[in-house]
Amino acid sequence: MAGEGTDASVDSSSADARARAVEGQMTDDERFSLLVSVMGVNDVVTVRDERIPEGVPMSAGYVPGVPRLGIPPLLMSDASLGVTNPGYRPGDTATALPSGIALGASFSPGLARQSGGMVGREARSRGFNVQLAGGVNLARDPRNGRNFEYLSEDPLLSAVLAAESIAGIQAEGVISTIKHYSLNCNETNRHWLDAIIDPAAHRESDLLAFEIAIERAQPGSVMTGYNKINGEYAGGNSILIQSVLKGAWGYPGWVMSDWGGTPGWEAARMGLDQESGLQLDVMMWQKEWFTAPLRQAYGEGKVPKERLSEMVRRILRSMFAVGVDAWGPPPEVDMAGHRKIALETARQGIVLLTNDGALPLATGTTARIAVIGGHAQVGVPTGCGSSAVLPPGGFAEVITVGGPGIMGVGRNLFLLPSSPLEELRKSLPGAEIEFDPGMSPAESALMAARCDVAIVFAIKLDSEGFDDPDLSLPWGQDAVIEAVAAANPNTIVVLETGNPIVMPWRGRVRAIVEAWYPGQAGGQAIAEVLTGAVNPSGRLPVTFPASLAQTPRPGLPGMGTPWGTPVTIEYTEGAEVGYRWFAQQHQQPLYAFGHGLSYTTFDYGNLQVEGGDTITATFTVTNTGQLAGADVPQLYLTAAAGEERLRLLGFQRVELRPGESCQVAITADRRLLARFDGPDGITGSWRIAEGSYQIAVGKSAQDLVLTAETPMRSS
Ligand code: BGC
Repeated sequence: MAGEGTDASVDSSSADARARAVEGQMTDDERFSLLVSVMGVNDVVTVRDERIPEGVPMSAGYVPGVPRLGIPPLLMSDASLGVTNPGYRPGDTATALPSGIALGASFSPGLARQSGGMVGREARSRGFNVQLAGGVNLARDPRNGRNFEYLSEDPLLSAVLAAESIAGIQAEGVISTIKHYSLNCNETNRHWLDAIIDPAAHRESDLLAFEIAIERAQPGSVMTGYNKINGEYAGGNSILIQSVLKGAWGYPGWVMSDWGGTPGWEAARMGLDQESGLQLDVMMWQKEWFTAPLRQAYGEGKVPKERLSEMVRRILRSMFAVGVDAWGPPPEVDMAGHRKIALETARQGIVLLTNDGALPLATGTTARIAVIGGHAQVGVPTGCGSSAVLPPGGFAEVITVGGPGIMGVGRNLFLLPSSPLEELRKSLPGAEIEFDPGMSPAESALMAARCDVAIVFAIKLDSEGFDDPDLSLPWGQDAVIEAVAAANPNTIVVLETGNPIVMPWRGRVRAIVEAWYPGQAGGQAIAEVLTGAVNPSGRLPVTFPASLAQTPRPGLPGMGTPWGTPVTIEYTEGAEVGYRWFAQQHQQPLYAFGHGLSYTTFDYGNLQVEGGDTITATFTVTNTGQLAGADVPQLYLTAAAGEERLRLLGFQRVELRPGESCQVAITADRRLLARFDGPDGITGSWRIAEGSYQIAVGKSAQDLVLTAETPMRSS
């Protein structure tokens, strides 16, 4: 539950002392050797770097160990959606989870913990002791090409889920990062992007997600972003690294850059502890920084000895706290069990957006059904970039997409081998199911017209390195849906996207399902939801706007400019991200944050609230329908001491049989009731203004069912 703490199973008591003792015995050569990670072979560097010894598996990052002191090398691989290493060890497969946004839609901390454990075990069995996981950037912009990797637009939801998945990884003795610190919220020219934000608003939004997740799960490392924040590169941003992360929050682990995201050796003076993937820095800045240049600066007294020691101590401390130096034999990996985790996440993450009774399809149906488009005969799409996982058995298909800039080379449509068409055929054995590729509206309409039901699969590829130009479906799919809906009144649309889209055809179809990128068992989960074997329970972790005009930035600065163009984005919405913005602007989105339908119905009652120093609310949830199902009631702050302010205060996923009730109790994190206040806006404290606070229990940020009011003391 959202209010509970996370047992991160980190032994911090002796880690500090050991780190201090071991660092004290090191030579400067050994110290410096820990400060850089070297990439294995990739598209940029095609020759094995001579710093990686023979026999060491290739990976995203390698840091040599210090054998004489019992320090193992660090082997880093990507992680958020499963262990991914294909660029470095072709053919190395792993369980491919649904996208992060699908996990976000499950509102399930339990699943986040399980999938983290799965990643930790698969990493460990391959010898990776650092997972570049924990993507917690808020989905501020529905065009951001990496929203699929992240969790949500809300700091609490993102933090709770990220913390559980980090804790799951670290419980297996594998270090997890949390990333990308901070405000890496658009991909357009991300290396030249200056993200401008009011510092206090930053504390109340993106930084709050990092703060809560870090205190709950104590990730061994924090990865900085590529972008600048208020004029300073994230990797060298002393306000964010020194004053906030290491100062105000007392973070004891190490701060690594993103790959190619170290702006100079001076970053070491600003708090950066490790330069990552330094070959990419050579590409970006024509220099490695934390090797010879930092050594020279150290020799000239520009970097004090104590700072060098601190950088090393932080790395060692996390290694000892998580236990990467104390590994026994590799764990048994139950790949069948891990597939079940991927399947369950897809099931719980699929969101039923609209349904006029067309769903679920009766399992005994003998109807003629047209399945159209989305490569549904092959598999399900996954997002592209460093998070893409090669599933067991390999991709069902890789369709080269391409694009400008260095990221264009690896931009592919990867299809995971879980065909929705095949799964529907299994689930509906009496139905006559035909497939049309959705290549042209006219051809698809011909098949739709001769069938009783048409199910259109619509996909959109999101990728690291690219933002979406708008919210429409690519490849002419809107026209296909229009034509199919005109030809068949029983049209159902299944979306497989990494972001919200707009739906010009919404009023002409009977049901809409958002399945995101549903992972290696996604086809099965989609078929189960369509046929009612699984009662849908996902809730939107992001607002679906009716159009970009409703969002804080109808036009995205820098969009369309070539790679390398400096761009400034002013995040003028400040802390009012996503649903908060829609409430403040009194806008009606297409679908609100928290929205999601079920095949049963739920009622809320008996709201009791207690104020004072924080808010505790209790209420009952009752399944008033005919089917068992899960609901996610949400508790919101709606006004604070006379000021309208929408904040998710907590949520709980509950499973109920027909007629069954349960009581939910949620205690708010006081920071969600407060404003951040300080002399420089970024360090300071949380202040609660005295007055009456209004709360609501809702089915979404816009569907508030019960309301109450309680007085709060100032603090
Ligand atoms: C991504 C990081 C990733 C790193 C290593 C970068 O391009 O931004 O999220 O961990 O590559 O693969």
